[in-house]
Amino acid sequence: SSTINAQAVGVDSPLSVPSKTVDLDWDNLGFGLVNTDYMYIMKCSIGESFSKGELVPFGNIEINPAAGVLNYGQALFEGLKAYKTEDGNILLFRPEENGTRMINGAERMCMPAPSVDQFVQAVKATVLANERWIPPPGKGSLYIRPLLMGSGSVLGLAPAPEYTFLIYVSPVGNYFKEGLSPINLLVETEMHRATPGGTGGVKTIGNYAAVLKAQGAAKAKGYSDVLYLDSVEKKYLEEVSSCNIFIVKGNTISTPDIKGTILPGITRKSIIDVARDQGFQVFEKPVTVDALLDADEVFCTGTAVVVSPVGSITYLGKRVTYGSSGVGVVSQQLYSGLTRLQMGLADDKMGWTVKL
Ligand code: COI
Repeated sequence: SSTINAQAVGVDSPLSVPSKTVDLDWDNLGFGLVNTDYMYIMKCSIGESFSKGELVPFGNIEINPAAGVLNYGQALFEGLKAYKTEDGNILLFRPEENGTRMINGAERMCMPAPSVDQFVQAVKATVLANERWIPPPGKGSLYIRPLLMGSGSVLGLAPAPEYTFLIYVSPVGNYFKEGLSPINLLVETEMHRATPGGTGGVKTIGNYAAVLKAQGAAKAKGYSDVLYLDSVEKKYLEEVSSCNIFIVKGNTISTPDIKGTILPGITRKSIIDVARDQGFQVFEKPVTVDALLDADEVFCTGTAVVVSPVGSITYLGKRVTYGSSGVGVVSQQLYSGLTRLQMGLADDKMGWTVKL
């Protein structure tokens, strides 16, 4: 058995794991849950602040059937990744952005949230405790999933009396089964993901249950995922179920502006800066579904999907294709620009990576 550096993870008792290595097929990681060694848990009552959390063995949690999260969906999640570098370091990408987004979402969902500092410390501790599950360089990453939920019981509709902040991790490879090959999207014209004044702009769990029906129907027809339109005029692009969308035309890149119905992606925000740094003109503005017709390239961004090129989009029975077959040059260039930073292969002049 091998002991984890307990001080580094901020816990009093030394944690141990059966061996330093794990028996995983690193070459065939998809985006599925692999149970790891430890998870992080921190609780607080309503009206109080989170104070001290702990690492516990990964496993099922006990929850009252009347918990706010189970009955009324009072919860948020986050997603970020840790990469192992060739020289043995572990890099996180902009974790304080996830902490800030969780605070913003918690405000909308009437929940207390950990401070950004508590969030980042908890992420670091969880990653270090599960270090042996981080894929070797080039094989994938450790996906980190922080949750914030109303764990106390309520019967009448009200904020829960107690909250749980939990982090678990899983090694992952590519999100879409297509890998880095272009995905095929279907524009959804009946169902919507979000409405003005709703919760589309925060990472609340219900937003993701709400897209399953359209996503399932599209998958049954062979599409990779669904592209949503705004619910008012039904002509502006919003986002894909699990990621943001960008369109490329010449030297110009456009992405729907954030105005409450679209998830403010951290990869989205980073790609905007990477693209500007590479000399593109980037616009955050309303993008009409018609703009898909004369785009040169379309791609999606997200923590899980990274930068995923889109090969075709079908709207009202008409299919528009991008690139002859492979990955578009701009998508490829932005994918490389971003992932080289995340993996510690490029000079991090923006100061985005956090070394553990
Ligand atoms: C992520 O990209 O991290 C997300 O949270 C999307 C999720 C549907 C996998």
